[in-house]
Amino acid sequence: MLYGMSSTNTSPPNASTPSIILDCDPGHDDAIAIVVAAQHTNLVGITTVAGNAPLTMTTRNALIMTDLLGIDTPVHSGADRPLVAPPRHAGYVHGESGLDGADLPEPTRGANGDNAVEFIIETCRTTEGIWLVPVGPLTNIALALRTASDLKDRIAGISLMGGGSFGNRSAAAEFNIWADPEAAAMVYEYGGPLKMAGLDVTHQFQATPDRIAKVSALPGRLAELLADLLHFFSATYMTRHDDMGGAAVHDPLAVMALTHPELFTIAQRHVVIETAGEHTRGMTLIDERALIERRPPNCDVLTHVEADAAFDVIVAAIAHFSN
Ligand code: BDR
Ligand code: CA
Repeated sequence: MLYGMSSTNTSPPNASTPSIILDCDPGHDDAIAIVVAAQHTNLVGITTVAGNAPLTMTTRNALIMTDLLGIDTPVHSGADRPLVAPPRHAGYVHGESGLDGADLPEPTRGANGDNAVEFIIETCRTTEGIWLVPVGPLTNIALALRTASDLKDRIAGISLMGGGSFGNRSAAAEFNIWADPEAAAMVYEYGGPLKMAGLDVTHQFQATPDRIAKVSALPGRLAELLADLLHFFSATYMTRHDDMGGAAVHDPLAVMALTHPELFTIAQRHVVIETAGEHTRGMTLIDERALIERRPPNCDVLTHVEADAAFDVIVAAIAHFSN
C-alpha cells in the first residue's frame, strides 16, 4: 500500500491463526483481550507488567482470567515498574485492584515464572514468527528487545494498544505510552512490523449499554462477571468524559488487528515517541504530512473499526467459553 493511502483489509477472517504472547496489565479491557486471544490465537503465553495496577495485582488478575476461561496458558510476571518514570497506576479507571466491579474468585494457581522478559526471549528464540501483543506499558517488550538483539528478526511483529493523536492521561499522552515513554520509544524504533491501536480507533469501540446487554444475556459465570466488569468500566468512563456512551474497550483491538484485520482501516505512518516535552512527554507524534520529506512509515496505525462487528466478536468469544 502506498504511503498516505488508507485501506480496509479484505483478507478472510481467521485465514491463519497467529501465535501470540499477550503482554498485559489487567485491567478491564485487558481481561477482554485475554478472552479474544484465547479463542482466536495460538496464545503461547501471557506476560504481565505493572500499569493499571501494581504487578502483583495485574498478575493475579491474569491468573483469574485463565481460571475463568479454563485455559492453562503460562503466565509470567515481568517488570514491576517503568524503565525511568516512577510507577503510577490507574485506579481512577480500573479501581485499586485493577479489576474492580465484579465478585471475582481467588486464583487457583500461581504464576509460572517471574521473569517475563526471559520467557519472551526464550519463547521467540525457540519458535519463529510469534506476534508480541502488548496492551499495557511497554516495559517488558523494550527490555526483551534491548536484551536480545536477535529478537526483532525472530518475531512476526508487534501489535500494540497505545498512543493516538490525542491523549487520555494528559492532553498529549495516552496512558500506556505515558506510563513508560522510554520503553515506548524503544519499541517504536525497533525496526520491524508494528501495528498501533491508539485512542483514535479505540474510542470508536465503546461498551454501550446495548452491547453490555449482549454479554449479560449469555449464560454462565464468565459472562456474568464480565458484564459486571464492563458495567463498572463504563461507569468510570461515562463519569469522567463529556461524550462517551460507554467505556472504550481498547485492548482487544490490538488482538483483533491480527485475527480480524478485515474489521479495520489502517494508515501507514511514521510515529515517534516524545520523551522530553514538558507538556507532551509520552505523546505519539504521528507524521500526517503530505510532504515528500516525511520519514518513511514505521507503523500501521489503525484508524477505523467496524465497531458493531468487532463487539460481536467479543460476545461470541465470551459465549465460546461460557457454560
Ligand atoms: C490503556 O490504558 C489502560 O487503562 C487500558 O487497559 C488500556 O490498555 C488505554 O489508555
Ligand atoms: Ca491495558
